[in-house]
Amino acid sequence: MDPVCLKEGLLALQSGALVVMPTETVYGLAADATNPQAIAALYAAKGRPASNPLIVHVADQASAQRWGGFSETAHKLADAFWPGPLTLVLPMTAEAKAHIAPAVTAGHDTLALRVPHHPLTLQALRALPFPLAAPSANLSNQLSPTRVSHLHHQLLTHVAHIWDGGPCIQGIESTIVQIIGNNWAVLRHGIFTEEALTAFLKTPPLSATATAPGQSLRHYAPHHPMILNSTKVGPEDALLAFGPHVPAGAMITKNLSLRGNLHETAARLFDALHTLDQWPCHRIVVMPIPESGVGLAINERLKKGAMTRGHESAMA
Ligand code: TXA
Ligand code: MG
Repeated sequence: MDPVCLKEGLLALQSGALVVMPTETVYGLAADATNPQAIAALYAAKGRPASNPLIVHVADQASAQRWGGFSETAHKLADAFWPGPLTLVLPMTAEAKAHIAPAVTAGHDTLALRVPHHPLTLQALRALPFPLAAPSANLSNQLSPTRVSHLHHQLLTHVAHIWDGGPCIQGIESTIVQIIGNNWAVLRHGIFTEEALTAFLKTPPLSATATAPGQSLRHYAPHHPMILNSTKVGPEDALLAFGPHVPAGAMITKNLSLRGNLHETAARLFDALHTLDQWPCHRIVVMPIPESGVGLAINERLKKGAMTRGHESAMA
């Protein structure tokens, strides 16, 4: 990247300001994880509840070990999948307890850590003397951004600098895995599926009923109501299609993957929803997406996006 642009962002972060950074999953809203004022500004900019902790981004596994206690299982996963769309929730080290701003973990004694796979952001993380707390760069509960053009103007009023890294290649947020000793549990589905992680670790996950804090709420929501698993459309509907057999008659149709490929679907999901949400439709109709592999992570997001506001307060 242009060295002036990189430097401007680094200076902004060092002064406690917020910077939008690209990752392979979604764009993040980054702040110095060791600076309590910067973290307070980050929660305020997103309108994020204080009970929903943040992921801390580091340049490599060695840096992650300063902040999180690694078991053998944690090492195995980090060795195999970092940099990449995997977040590990680990016990905090003494150094983390002393230096990470308490609001980052929302009072938990675990810390979520990840090494993102994006050259620009890795360059920034290597240059900085502190790790970066970064939630997705959207207003709380709204659609995640996978391009700079998706960033909400209200959020941008709080941002000092944007690093534009182009469209995010993976398109959905990292898989979150909690590590308890050498046991593990998936708290949020993502590109790395539970099936793939089980095959890799050769041990099944704890049968967890837990999800990541904040994840049970309405989330990833477009402004229009969303109807899932339907192929019935009318002229006032926007259609989020999947596969080759697409019903006719919608006001606008976006096909996530004509050939029915789930990775392509994940990569296009938020961009397609941002586009459809601009249309003067009554609702967004989503065709069925297989509940297998990465489809689990895609459907998890669609289900939360389709929750009504009434349901949200009932669950909060
Ligand atoms: O791909 C990603 O993970 C993106 C990019 C920017 O890295 N980030 C992201 O952050 O999705 P956010 O804030 O939208 O989601 C973070 C999730 C939240 O659901 C939060 O509850 C969970 O991580 N989390 C953070 N710290 C945790 C902890 N100590 N224990 C359990 N869950 C935690
Ligand atoms: Mg988010």
